[in-house]
Amino acid sequence: MFSLKNVKYKHILQIDDLVIEDCKVTCIVGESGSGKTTLIRLLNKLISCDSGEIIYNDHDLNTIDSVRLRRAVVMLPQTPAIFPGNVKDNLLIGLKFAEKPPVDNDKLRQILKIVNLNKELHDESDNLSGGEKQRLALGRVILLDPDVFLLDEPSSSLDEETERIIIEKLIAYTKDTNKTLIMVTHSKKIAQTYSDNIIQIRQGRVLN
Ligand SMILES: Nc1ncnc2c1ncn2[C@@H]1O[C@H](COP(=O)(O)OP(=O)(O)O)[C@@H](O)[C@H]1O
Ligand SMILES: [Mg+2]
Repeated sequence: MFSLKNVKYKHILQIDDLVIEDCKVTCIVGESGSGKTTLIRLLNKLISCDSGEIIYNDHDLNTIDSVRLRRAVVMLPQTPAIFPGNVKDNLLIGLKFAEKPPVDNDKLRQILKIVNLNKELHDESDNLSGGEKQRLALGRVILLDPDVFLLDEPSSSLDEETERIIIEKLIAYTKDTNKTLIMVTHSKKIAQTYSDNIIQIRQGRVLN
């Protein structure tokens, strides 16, 4: 799936050799400021490495059109944008940006179940709590149906119980649909319990 060789990004990251497997759950852990977000931004071509190579499905990222890449490899930032309007508007806006056709309300409600968001489609998004907004944005990303999810601390504003429920549902969903899940998490417990592989980063380097 992804393979990185001798990748250098500013003084921030230096990764000699790293493979991220297809159809697996990979957690990225490490202290704040260690370079976790930078790593997933590289995978999505939001930034480009200064040297080295990143291969995605046998192609050098430099040769893949960014828009095409981001249809297959979708990133959920740590603090996702919530747009004015209701829950439905916020779910559909991702499809609109991606120039994909909208889906019906049943499908949208199914997504709300996956992200454990107990709200109506017509509820105003302004009134949601931080954790609910995060789940709404996660739902938006799931609707895009990418091959790879890059999630940056998707459960950082959730309580432990909600976090466990969401992660379990999300992992069940990605396994059922043969997706690849790459997730930054502050929680070693989440990483140890749920991931197939763990990438530990310290001061911009992957620990083996
Ligand atoms: N565009 C940038 N320019 C300069 N320094 C940056 C940039 N982005 C991040 N950094 C720095 O790189 C380090 C790693 O950042 P980041 O990848 O966001 O860490 P993490 O997600 O592990 O908390 C931090 O010291 C951060 O301040
Ligand atoms: Mg980060």
